[in-house]
Amino acid sequence: MERTVHVALGERAYDVVIGPDLVGQAGARIAPLLRRRKVAVLTDETVAGLHLEHLRAGLAKDGIELDALVLPPGESTKGWPQFTRAVEWLLETKVERGDIVIALGGGVIGDLAGFAAAVLRRGVRFVQIPTSLLSQVDSSVGGKTGINAPQGKNLIGAFHQPSLVLADTAILATLAPRDFLAGYGEVVKYGLLGDADFFAWLETHAAAMAGGDLALRTEAVARSVQMKADIVVRDETEQGDRALLNLGHTFCHALEAATGYGDRLLHGEGVAIGCALAFELSARLGLCSQEDPSRVRAHLKAMGMKTDLSDIPGDLPPAADLVALMGQDKKVMDGQLNFILARGIGSAFVTADVPGDAVLAVLQDALDQRAG
Ligand code: GLY
Repeated sequence: MERTVHVALGERAYDVVIGPDLVGQAGARIAPLLRRRKVAVLTDETVAGLHLEHLRAGLAKDGIELDALVLPPGESTKGWPQFTRAVEWLLETKVERGDIVIALGGGVIGDLAGFAAAVLRRGVRFVQIPTSLLSQVDSSVGGKTGINAPQGKNLIGAFHQPSLVLADTAILATLAPRDFLAGYGEVVKYGLLGDADFFAWLETHAAAMAGGDLALRTEAVARSVQMKADIVVRDETEQGDRALLNLGHTFCHALEAATGYGDRLLHGEGVAIGCALAFELSARLGLCSQEDPSRVRAHLKAMGMKTDLSDIPGDLPPAADLVALMGQDKKVMDGQLNFILARGIGSAFVTADVPGDAVLAVLQDALDQRAG
């Protein structure tokens, strides 16, 4: 049931291995990369409680020792204070240039640990062991690493590719259903942006996958990672095509900013709503048929996901304020908002040519529905 996706980036190439119990086999998987039998692990309290001893045992089978720094869980870890702590701990632990740092956790830990590895001694190698669905299908692959600044999310960072990614699909069973579904928002995104067959596959199989079917989980993660790898290989540093991965994200960032980047709206939930809005906008601009946004929304609803603005608890600001929040996205270029729109399910494209009044109207109508 195991799958391997190769990310063919020349001297920075690596494998993403996807399948059950990879944490238990971590020693055998990582040993070929090691110069000495010792690794430094960055993780958080929640993940450590669930998986750190399993990883320790998986490494010990191959005689590999583990030192771990356990950081607080949550997005607020992804800033200078915990980053400084992590880098200084890695130095105190005497991580050498030829050593491996392991990121054991979700997107916050993966991004922080990857960035720490990027700057430590001008760059050491690192291995991602992503423990959330979102990090397995998105953030652990592709080499975007970094932390948040007071001025915005992910504004400090580096491209630093991992040397190996172990996506253990059995540990997804430890996720809260809400976190699993939020990660699923990024899975749906892949079907919507570039693979109509995958979207149709998800319409058929996603309920059983969310219900726990391990073979389907492995298949869904592998297909998502393959799509991400293909895009990253074409455009590693996001000069063009990689922006396709931001389908739904322009709307999502405005909604996340408006709701305080917290529990009211998880990132993957915002991505799902953002994808529905991007398809609505595409239909209104005459780019795709009106059936497409209906089909997107029907699938999200069938999965019990947040789909509309009315699914976000609490107040939202007026449409014009949401549009202003979009303008603070880091993907603004020369003052132009880059949007990902679609000519149909599986056919997304990047454009800067989106009439502001159309965006405003989509948001206004979505807010009106909420009020009504
Ligand atoms: N998460 C979007 C990217 O890696 O480009």
